[in-house]
Amino acid sequence: MVEGPTVRPLACPPPWGVPFRVLFVCLGNICRSPTAEGVMRTLVAQAGLEDTIELDSAGTGAWHVGSPPDGRAAAAARSRGTVLEGRARQVTREDLDSYDLVIAMDSANMRELRQLAGGESERAKVRMLREFDPVSAQRGELDVPDPYYGGDGGFEEVFELVRAACEGLLERIQAGELP
Ligand code: 4NP
Repeated sequence: MVEGPTVRPLACPPPWGVPFRVLFVCLGNICRSPTAEGVMRTLVAQAGLEDTIELDSAGTGAWHVGSPPDGRAAAAARSRGTVLEGRARQVTREDLDSYDLVIAMDSANMRELRQLAGGESERAKVRMLREFDPVSAQRGELDVPDPYYGGDGGFEEVFELVRAACEGLLERIQAGELP
């Protein structure tokens, strides 16, 4: 279970179409975006919104397609009560059409997604995860650092950065402020 501020129940009826679909995107889809998906899944379940918010993750690269989450990311999440699931896949142009929000982990992911987008309405769906954490946003620190070539501490840092941002993201969705 993810500890943190209690999330408010959703106003009924929700201000957006149901389900509201959110896709998290990083480079390989084995470290950061599966962590964001897992953290958000836990928060969404705590808020009782499993049937109204749909989640997935993908990578801009194809190297790890079909692979499970990186063991180090899974261990950092598991020790904090979150199970990482799914297999890596590459993001597609259709994702930008079918998801309501496409959340980039860093500015390189953001650039790739904006290039993939067909038009302005799709580009407008692409946001940076850490912009939803007020502390990160205020500092202008919007990248979730890539932990792949670093030590275990990097994966723990990623989890905490992602957790803070996902709490803010869920609040903004519940408030009907997104996309
Ligand atoms: P992710 O991390 O983008 O958070 O999944 C990475 C995973 C694999 C590689 C780079 C980053 N790689 O170079 O294979």
